Amino acid sequence: MKKGLFITFEGADGSGKTTQLNKIKTFLDEKGYETVVTREPGALDFGKKIREILLHYDKNLSDKAEMFLFLADRAQHIEGLIKPSLEQGKIVLCDRHTDSTIAYQGYGRGQDINLLTLLNDIAVNNLKPDLTLLYDVSVETAQKRVGDEKDRMEASGIEFHKKVRNGYIQLQKDNSERIKLIDANNDIETVYENTKNIIMDLINKRLGV
Ligand code: TMP
Repeated sequence: MKKGLFITFEGADGSGKTTQLNKIKTFLDEKGYETVVTREPGALDFGKKIREILLHYDKNLSDKAEMFLFLADRAQHIEGLIKPSLEQGKIVLCDRHTDSTIAYQGYGRGQDINLLTLLNDIAVNNLKPDLTLLYDVSVETAQKRVGDEKDRMEASGIEFHKKVRNGYIQLQKDNSERIKLIDANNDIETVYENTKNIIMDLINKRLGV
């Protein structure tokens, strides 16, 4: 039985979502909420091994193999960390989740979106985020922030990243109740104010202050 809150952070590499996640964790901890910070891929020991392959394997990895690795990491993560933390009433702040698979493997790599949606559902066993924050930033700004040292996913090229960004925007339109769009071209403090307002709104509605 789920009691806590499940919040996911989505967006391009270089969107600043991880910075925002860490800032909001500090804020919520100071307010006395119990938080768990986690991420995909690679939160658990098993996932760390998968992450190493996904981001640094230097030989050809097929698009299907890539897809299944992200999903395998997620299935283990849900059972091993997210579900138990929610059952303990914690606020789970997760850096990337199911929407990343739709945006990157679906819109980016061209895998079938309906199939990915089904596979995501199987991986999470019907456990859905209460809220998803989508940090939208121009591809050019994101690429500048990432810099020259790119991992396997980041090095997928500008056209790929444009498709990912458009995919995220489509996802937000299709799920506007759950996914809130934040303009991440703004400075860190403005983005943080937006993040905090949206999260506190949910907490006040669902957990009370
Ligand atoms: P990050 O942890 O630095 O955000 O990197 C993870 C990379 O993996 C990032 O480029 C996005 C990508 N990714 C996918 O392609 N599909 C997924 O399902 C997830 C969770 C991440």
